[in-house]
Amino acid sequence: MRVAPSILSADFGNLKEEILTVQEAEWLHIDVMDGHFVPNITIGPLVVKALRPHSKQVFDTHLMISEPEKYFDPFIEAGSDQITFHVETVENPASVIDTLHEKGVKAGISIKPKTPVAEIGQFLEKLDLVLVMSVEPGFGGQAFMPESLEKIQTLKRIKDEKGYHFDIVVDGGINDETAKLCKKAGADVMVAGSFIFKSEDRSARIDEVRG
Ligand code: DX5
Ligand code: ZN
Repeated sequence: MRVAPSILSADFGNLKEEILTVQEAEWLHIDVMDGHFVPNITIGPLVVKALRPHSKQVFDTHLMISEPEKYFDPFIEAGSDQITFHVETVENPASVIDTLHEKGVKAGISIKPKTPVAEIGQFLEKLDLVLVMSVEPGFGGQAFMPESLEKIQTLKRIKDEKGYHFDIVVDGGINDETAKLCKKAGADVMVAGSFIFKSEDRSARIDEVRG
């Protein structure tokens, strides 16, 4: 089980020190919001660039923005290793995945709680990760939606049956308890924001999420 602390719940006045406290986690999850696809505005490429020299982690960039293709180059140049866009935001997901691969980064698709797995079925073969949202995107600290467990199970079944390589990543409301449920359902990576950053002992929280 890999862990991706979400810096959305970190102290933005101290971001460098904050990310240094979670270096034992494999990924760093960066939530990008545009005030249009979601009702909140967060992080741009400048912040990614400023953090890049201070971490060897995989920079896992979650674009909750309209017209995500416009921003691929700035985020990649800033140091993003993988880019996840929302299937709800593009016309032709297959070609967007190809674009990311041509640019040399891993490609992920995210689905909101109300978007069924069937919407992305035809793209699974190409994907490096699927990000299952277990809260409505936009804010940290919300409660886990148990309906997402079924989606994880479905993805896991397809992945095993077809021999696909994508990681199943869960994002929203993850704590020690919900991480256990997601792991059992077949998830590979846990994104956790408030559970990790709202505690003084980040290492303990990362261990608890890892299970
Ligand atoms: C929500 C973001 C999440 C968020 C998770 O839109 O995509 O990554 O940071 O925060 P918690 O873990 O607090 O639910
Ligand atoms: Zn996220």
